[in-house]
Amino acid sequence: MGNLDLMPRDSFGSKLGVIAAAAGSAVGLGNIWRFPYVTGQNGGGAFLLIYLMFILAIGFPVMLAELTIGRRAQRNALGSFRKLAPGKPWYMVGMMGIVAAFMILAFYSTIAGWTLEYLVQAVTNSFDGKTAGELKTSFEKFQGGTFRPLVWQVVFMFLTGYIVFSGVKNGIEKYTKILMPVLLLLIIVICIRSLTLPGAKEGLVFLFKPDFSKITWPVILDALGQAAFSLSIGMGTLITYGSYIQKDNNLPVTALQVSATDTIIAILAGVMIFPAVFAFNIDPAEGFGLVFIVLPNIFEQMAGGYFFGILFFILLAIAALTSTVSVLEVVVAYFSEELKMTRHRATIIAAVAITFVGLFATLSFGPLSGFKILDRTIFGWFDFLSANILLPLGAIFIVVFVGWVLGKKNVREELSNDGTVKLPLLNIFMWIIKLVAPLAIAMVFIYGLGLIG
Ligand code: PFF
Repeated sequence: MGNLDLMPRDSFGSKLGVIAAAAGSAVGLGNIWRFPYVTGQNGGGAFLLIYLMFILAIGFPVMLAELTIGRRAQRNALGSFRKLAPGKPWYMVGMMGIVAAFMILAFYSTIAGWTLEYLVQAVTNSFDGKTAGELKTSFEKFQGGTFRPLVWQVVFMFLTGYIVFSGVKNGIEKYTKILMPVLLLLIIVICIRSLTLPGAKEGLVFLFKPDFSKITWPVILDALGQAAFSLSIGMGTLITYGSYIQKDNNLPVTALQVSATDTIIAILAGVMIFPAVFAFNIDPAEGFGLVFIVLPNIFEQMAGGYFFGILFFILLAIAALTSTVSVLEVVVAYFSEELKMTRHRATIIAAVAITFVGLFATLSFGPLSGFKILDRTIFGWFDFLSANILLPLGAIFIVVFVGWVLGKKNVREELSNDGTVKLPLLNIFMWIIKLVAPLAIAMVFIYGLGLIG
């Protein structure tokens, strides 16, 4: 491993680049597709409240812990644990992250493919003149097909591979920096249209008025899984990105900016979707297809909807791309550093293998839709296992590692940048990652899965 230290590592070129790349990873389909559908299925307001609590009390500390590991070790997700705790089994946490990355990308690329289909539909003006019912039928017809969803998934994986292929600075950083702010602006414009639809108020009530009778342990586990998924934590993405961050970057501030951006975009996605859900009489618990059914309805009702529809799906695809890139990077960094492959070879092997697994996720909406285990399809299992099981488990190990193994002295050293960054909240942070976060996650986990009655 010695010569690895001599090899120059790629890194992010600027502070803005770091935030853009990390926010690019966090902001994606998790905010715009997954957050509304999971919130809709879990009854709205109360779920949102618990989700926000998890972001603050668990998500942010875990994010900072991951960045700390990565920048300290300057390695991939697995190599970081190996370097910081040589000869100990901690590297298994990295291994688990790599499995999670495989699984996430396998089903995420299905939905990412849908964004491309919808982009084409927007360009060809296919939403025009259709009723809400017709838009739902046409979504279901597309989703249940074989050829088109598969082709889009492959195209999307190809794009992801292409960017990862180009490396950190020229690939990942360059594309994210400009496009994220444009997406934010566009979401705000769509929110305004959604909010001015007749009947919109009911959607706001659904999203913001907590009804605690809806809260059960599985709902709480869903909130935790959604928080982890949305922030890209628990599987080493931010360890990997942290390893490319320069030593003078203020990590607590970066983590704060990234988690705040991610949360704001998720809430705005809710404000964009739910008023329209009620205005068009769509079931908020519709599930995986929710945003794809709701959005075209909004565009149809918007002045300039044709133009905004196209722009939106372009940006959504790009937001998804900056996230898929970060997931693939976890696997590629591992293959290239630990298995000593060239970056190009690692990218091709990882992308092809993941695409292959992903085809089954896509087909579970069509020919394989009848194939269910315990009432979940293959896609459903990938989604559930990664977000609700692997990420929270990974998060527990990560915080325990930073709290108990790395320890306060190392954490202070890594986060204070040679004394230039003051750390007034360090004690609270250590307390959260040593005890509060691991215990809270473990409890949600045990009760959410029904492991204890
Ligand atoms: N956070 C991304 C999103 O919200 O779309 C998805 C994601 C990326 C999850 C990277 C996990 C991850 F490691």
